[in-house]
Order: sequence, then structure tokens, then C-alpha cells
Amino acid sequence: MAEATKERGIWSGKLAFILAAAGSAVGLGNIWRFPTEAASHGGGVFLLIYLVFAFLIGYPVMMAEMSIGRNSRKNPVGAFKFLASDNKLYMLIGAWGVLCGIMILSYYTVVAGWTFSYVFEELFHFMGMAELSNWFGDTSHGINNALFSVLFMSATIAIITGGVAEGIEKATKTLMPLLILILIILIGYVLTQEGSAKGLSRYLTPDLTKINAEVIFAAMGQAFFSLSLGMGAIITYGSYLPKRENIAGAAAYVTLFDTGIAFLAGLLIIPAMFVAQSNGITIFEGGGLKAGPALIFQVLPNMFHNIGGMWGMVFGVGFFLLLSIAALTSTISLLEVVTAYAIDEHGVQRKKAAMGVGSGILLVSLFISFDISLIGTLDLIFSSIGLPLGGFLICLFVGYKWGPQDAMAELEVGYDQFEKSIVRKAWPVFIKVLAPLAILYNLVSTLFGTF
Ligand code: PHE
Repeated sequence: MAEATKERGIWSGKLAFILAAAGSAVGLGNIWRFPTEAASHGGGVFLLIYLVFAFLIGYPVMMAEMSIGRNSRKNPVGAFKFLASDNKLYMLIGAWGVLCGIMILSYYTVVAGWTFSYVFEELFHFMGMAELSNWFGDTSHGINNALFSVLFMSATIAIITGGVAEGIEKATKTLMPLLILILIILIGYVLTQEGSAKGLSRYLTPDLTKINAEVIFAAMGQAFFSLSLGMGAIITYGSYLPKRENIAGAAAYVTLFDTGIAFLAGLLIIPAMFVAQSNGITIFEGGGLKAGPALIFQVLPNMFHNIGGMWGMVFGVGFFLLLSIAALTSTISLLEVVTAYAIDEHGVQRKKAAMGVGSGILLVSLFISFDISLIGTLDLIFSSIGLPLGGFLICLFVGYKWGPQDAMAELEVGYDQFEKSIVRKAWPVFIKVLAPLAILYNLVSTLFGTF
């Protein structure tokens, strides 16, 4: 076992694992998806329900995924095979996760490509080269999208090829704090701008009369997406976690960190939308959001251009660069799931696995590059529906097949105070009853419109 673990790779310590899991969680979900979803689903009320889902459903599910991973030391498919060796059907939970991983990565790569392309859009804007700037800023340009998807996927493959610890740990440790710093400075700036107060109040005052099935469904999907749950990314990362670490603690850090960054991103972007609106950019139309996946790529550059001068350039280029890196630590975790599956289950060598799987997924990204309306459809099927569905199945598996006793034995490893902790009392109730019921109710009521 020790040998096998060594070959598969292992995190160098607690911080490394938390950073990697936080790196997976923090990404476009926080800065691209969260503010757009919040703005189009009532602002404050979305934020509130999102937080409830993240802490009451997401956090327990994250602990479940970490335990499955660390106990089995396997990719999602292998993990269910290992823990339920008498019935192969359970493997399908892992297989669904791998499929969701493949499909999410395919469109995520295109959007991640935009963030990187906007580094150049900003750079050329401030150098006064409008034509070049517009070319890099055109998110509907197929060739441009394809080119940046290739770049982004190549970077992801390169890091995955290097193994778990090295690349991911390094990228996350220094750059994440910088991202937070830049968010805070920009929030300070945007709140001084005309129109921002309206955005701020939309974001921070929940209008409870706006709660409906659609808002709850969207907030649930967002919580799963943002915390990287429901498809085995955290199972896979957990499979490299040393036994001495405390799972409940690590999961708490990751949940707090990820929701904290999403909260900050909303504090920046929703007011910025209103500022952009008062600058003449159409953000809201007919009472609703003129949505579309490219929204933040209109709103944020508008803000940087208004800041102008050297600082505009520093923030514009810096922000999109940091966001690209945050997206990269997420694409890494998505590709790692599929790569670990190919390595563990089919005996493929790491390098070959990463290149093979990565190029296959890239083909789908290239297709999407030329028809970006696919992003919304794929996101609905594989994130908003697919991830909560995966989370639901994981809860049932842990609650009724593997069993909370065995799962808790894994949680106890590395957690000295476990016997006396609230986790011990509350976690099984959440996993067996509350989380699966909440997820099921929302999926059924939305999909079948029986609210
Ligand atoms: N959580 C990532 C983000 O917010 C996206 C992701 C989803 C990563 C699912 C892995 C698994 O950007």
C-alpha cells in the first residue's frame, strides 16, 4: 500500500492539500459564474440560499468525498469499485463523475481561454492599439477561442504530466493571496463610482419574496460547481491525502475560503455591472439581465478602462492574469480526475494518459469555440443538474452502502477530538437525510415543474 501510494503521488502536507483543493474550488466559478448567477436570480436572495447550500450541504458532501478518496486511494470509478466490491453498479456513480468532469472541462477551457485572451485585450488597449485589443476581446471569434483553448489545455496537460504536488502547490500558494488583494482594492474603487450603491443594495439585501424553485435550483448548482463537488474532483484529491490530516478541518477551510472569494467577487462585480450600465453599456434589459457567458468580460474591462492610465493597465492585466491562473488550478483538478481514472483503471502511464485525455477533451472545446451558445446548455446539464445529482448519489452511497460508521472511522483518522465533536453527531444526519432530501427535492421540483 505504501508503495502504491508513493507511485500515485501524495501531498507533502496539510497546507499542500488545502491549497490544492482550494485551487480546484476557486476559479471561474467564483468570478465568472457566481456573480452572473446572483445578478440574474435576485441578488441578495441568491447569495443567502447559496451560502446555506455551501455550508449545510456542500461542506458535509466535501467531507464525504475526501473520506471516500483517502480510504480507497483511488480515482472516482476505482473508489466505488473498491468500497463496494460486491456490486459493480456503484461504479456508475464514479463514471457519471468522470463524464461530468470531461464535459465541464470542455467548456470551462473555452471560458478560461477568454480570461487569458483578455490579458492581451487589456494590454493592447492601454498601449493604444485598439484593433489588436478588439481582436483579443472578441469572445464570439471562433479562431481566437480555439487558439486560446489550445493554449489553455496545453498548460493544463503540462502541469498534470508533472504529477500532483509540484505545479499545483506552487501556483496556488503565492497567487491566491494576490487575487484576494486585487479583489479588495477593486471593490474599494468600484464602490466610489456612480451607480454602484444600487448594485450593492441589490447584492446585500435579500428580497425574500423572490425565493422560488428556480432561484433555489440555481443556488444549489452554483454551490456544487464552486466547491468542485459531485463529480469526484475532491475524491481524487483526497486520494492523495496523508492519513495524519484532519478531513473535517481541511474541508472547512476550503469551504470558507471558496465562499469568501465568491462573496468578494460578487461585491466587486454586481456593483460594477450597475456602474457599467450607467456608463451606457447594456447590462440589464427589460428588467432582466442581458445575460450570456461573456458578461464579466464586458463589465470588468469597462471598469479598468475607466480607471485608466498606468493603474488601469496594472489592474486590468493583473486581474485577468490572476484569474487565468485561478482557472488553471481548476482545470488541473478536472483533468486530474480523468487522468487518474485512466492511470488506475486502465494502467496507462501518467504522461500518455494526460495527453490522450486532454487532447480528446480539447476536440470538444474546439467545437464549442465556434458555437459558444453550447456553453449554457452544457453548463445546465453537467453542472447545474449533473453535479447535484452526483452529490445525491454520493450521499446515498456513504449513508446506506459504505455506511456512516465506516465513513466516520475514516473521518476520525487525524482528528483527535472526533468522538466529542459536533461533526460526529451531525454529519451522518446530513449525509443520510438532509442533504439527499434537499437535493432530490430541488432536482425533481425543477425538472418536473411540480413546485
Ligand atoms: N470549482 C471550480 C470553479 O469554481 C470548477 C470545478 C467544478 C472544478 C467541478 C472541478 C470540479 O471554478
